Amino acid sequence: MTYAVTSGCINCKFSDCVEVCPTDAFHEGPNMLVIHPEDCIDCGLCEPECPEKAIFADTDLPDDEFNALDINTRLAECWPVICKCIDPMPEAERWSGVANKWPLLEIEAGVLAMETDAS
Ligand code: SF4
Ligand code: F3S
Repeated sequence: MTYAVTSGCINCKFSDCVEVCPTDAFHEGPNMLVIHPEDCIDCGLCEPECPEKAIFADTDLPDDEFNALDINTRLAECWPVICKCIDPMPEAERWSGVANKWPLLEIEAGVLAMETDAS
């Protein structure tokens, strides 16, 4: 089992989750954080810290977030580790609570190229 960040994080990045993670399992992209499943020790500390309730155990993902584990796994390989809390995104309050934000996920061109190379 591992934990995964779902689309509630997109355009918010409140990053309360980062401070409590004992293994630095979070990775930061342009408008979302993800968890590296190989670094997550399933402690569950991050889940209650997220004001967006965007973090779930992979065994407990909502139906409309079924792809979150795959997205976390792929992007954690490409994005850098984040160890410290950061300021939320400028329009975080506007995007707070909006459902299924996956179409808004930003993936840099270089990361897309890596994904293509890997396939
Ligand atoms: Fe880190 Fe624990 Fe959350 Fe896994 S469950 S990402 S180890 S805080
Ligand atoms: Fe995102 Fe929630 Fe962490 S909004 S950055 S998963 S605290």
